[in-house]
Amino acid sequence: MSLSLQDLKKTPASIVIFGGFGDLSWRKLIPALYNLFIGGYLPENFTIFAMDYHGRTDAAYDKHMLEGINTFSRTGKADPEKWNIFKDRLDYFQGDFTVPDTFPRLKKALEDYDKQWGKRAIRVFYYSVSPGFIQMITEGLSKYKMANNPSKDRIVIEKPFGTDLASAQKLNKLLTKDFKEQQIYRIDHYLGKEVVQNILAFRFANHIFEPLWRSGEVDHIQISVAEDVSVGTRGKYYDNSGALRDMIQNHLLQLLSVIAMDRPKSYTAECIRDEKVKVLKSVRKIKPEEVVRAQYTAGTVDGNKQAAYIDEVNVARNSKTETFVALKLFIDNPRWKGVPFLLRTGKCMPKKSSLITIVFKPTPNKIFKDDTNSNRLYISIQPEQTINLIVDGKVPGIEMKLQPVNMDFTYNDSFCEPSPEAYETLLLDVLEGDTTLFIRDDQVETAWKIVMPILDYWKKTSSGLKKYAAGTEGPKASDQLAKSVGAKWALSSPNETPLLCEPRKDKP
Ligand code: BG6
Repeated sequence: MSLSLQDLKKTPASIVIFGGFGDLSWRKLIPALYNLFIGGYLPENFTIFAMDYHGRTDAAYDKHMLEGINTFSRTGKADPEKWNIFKDRLDYFQGDFTVPDTFPRLKKALEDYDKQWGKRAIRVFYYSVSPGFIQMITEGLSKYKMANNPSKDRIVIEKPFGTDLASAQKLNKLLTKDFKEQQIYRIDHYLGKEVVQNILAFRFANHIFEPLWRSGEVDHIQISVAEDVSVGTRGKYYDNSGALRDMIQNHLLQLLSVIAMDRPKSYTAECIRDEKVKVLKSVRKIKPEEVVRAQYTAGTVDGNKQAAYIDEVNVARNSKTETFVALKLFIDNPRWKGVPFLLRTGKCMPKKSSLITIVFKPTPNKIFKDDTNSNRLYISIQPEQTINLIVDGKVPGIEMKLQPVNMDFTYNDSFCEPSPEAYETLLLDVLEGDTTLFIRDDQVETAWKIVMPILDYWKKTSSGLKKYAAGTEGPKASDQLAKSVGAKWALSSPNETPLLCEPRKDKP
């Protein structure tokens, strides 16, 4: 049972961030916690232990985190008064996972707070560390019995969750040996994004869509996550990962499951996660030789020169790692029989755009000669937060002429409240003990099973790697893949280019 916000506020909480000085803490976690604090969402009694290997002063730590908030928080620069209160709850904790006294010291610090508050606090252990440290931390927590109360203690694991199926299974085994599945929160921050959460509301609270959301009515579905950023300073991690592991295995397959799942019996974590797993389990084995993989070469993105991937810092000069993937898959269940799903993601594309496009079948028995456009539903996750339905309408005038028009729902126009950052939503859910937006063990393993044939095939041959110039929409092979099912990628946000996506001309 998760806590209501009201109950949470009365329940003390200790939040331990392993990797408390790292990039994720700086850019995302501390700004998100600060925003939860100023929004009045955190418990009256809480403390954040930011564990870091180096011995820094509290003042140096606070200064860096304030800079992080000022730079990355969606609410802008920190309010000096509120920051002063917040920083007193930020407890810099020097600790090295390999040194034996680190964990008993942490235990004592946690217990001291429990005593001060007169109550055993909720404990959140956030693993914001590279995968190599997961075992050490888990063993430390377990040996000193710091997280042995499943209803109060939460383990939060960042991606990457393994590098393949075997390593993910190993990791699941390691974690579930010491912790209960219900206390493990595997993060996929896409699930915390406002529009992604709204897909469930949109689909299951509006009866008009349910009859349309299926084979027979839907021609094909596209899930496209284009990024304009390059690999930047993350070459060391990325060159061993690539777009398939970094984006498709997690974010895009999670988007797929939200779009394609059947109606859950109820809005509860397990019912929702059951349906998501079911749909992933129904994905037909992807033909690896048809998957498009590509790497960016030098080019220009948004007017700025961009070096080739192989010239990035910490990337092997002969690297064959893909920065772009496009693939087609089918879901073998009655709802989606024969409907192609096109997925693509890439770095250094012309524009940041996470867009789901549902293209409906053409009107049967057309009675208008210019009824040539299929209805489309665009769900734009970012940067614009919009849902647009494209329908045909009559152009005003004495002739009967049709033209596609855009029925749009724009967050900014419809709601006064700004959307929270994904990490705010997810951290609050962790504190409340709500696992709905987190990945269960079987979900993560099923997602790996989907991509494993591709990884295995790529291990054997690197000859299929294509190139695309930075600042372009990827290689031609990606357009051909879409064309193979009679489709065309929706290139950009519908507000700018409403008609770029065409219906399929033939059947697969
Ligand atoms: C991360 C990936 O999980 O998601 C990054 O590791 C990627 O490579 C990022 O850039 C994209 O997230 P967002 O929220 O910026 O779309």
